Amino acid sequence: MNDRHVMEKVLLSEEEIQKRVGELAQEISRDYVGRELVLLGALKGAIMFLADLSRSITLHHSLDFVGASSYGDGTESSGEVKITKEAALDLKGKHVILVEDIYDTGLTMEALTQHIRSLQPASLEICVLLVKDHPRQFELPIRYAGFHIPDLFVVGYGLDYAQRLRNLRYVGVLRPAAELEAEMGEE
Ligand code: IMP
Repeated sequence: MNDRHVMEKVLLSEEEIQKRVGELAQEISRDYVGRELVLLGALKGAIMFLADLSRSITLHHSLDFVGASSYGDGTESSGEVKITKEAALDLKGKHVILVEDIYDTGLTMEALTQHIRSLQPASLEICVLLVKDHPRQFELPIRYAGFHIPDLFVVGYGLDYAQRLRNLRYVGVLRPAAELEAEMGEE
């Protein structure tokens, strides 16, 4: 797979991402001393971020996953979100950090945080790798934010285009859709 062919540009390099993830992990390690911490990764986009963040946190903590998907006709979200995977751990009384790939409209995060709150954690904060800079329907308090990026469709480091490209070590912007379909269809 030559991913550079489908990429317009690299937005965040592997080095930049790793440095920032290390900083976030340090901050979390300082903030959660003496507290029972659970990192709750949102499937599937947050898995790379979660894996790197978790390995850089110097406190004992647990990992778990939640999942959500928006209802829609495939091209446009209906504005409703379904919880597709509930946490397996009992979150009651735990200090939970929801780890997300990207804060775009905020719809998914809004649904996930509502769901998690209903499980009565002792506290809930959000840690997100990318924040898209544009006006949002759902403004949520983001305690830990990796990078602020322009309002572009990005892929890599967990983020996909048609379920592909999650495995890239960097975050990039794709070439325009028409060219891309031809290219991705080939292989
Ligand atoms: P929301 O709009 O904030 O609810 O984002 C929903 C989900 O859409 C995110 O968790 C991502 O998985 C996906 N998403 C949003 N923007 C992008 C993007 O630029 N690239 C890839 N996936 C995205």
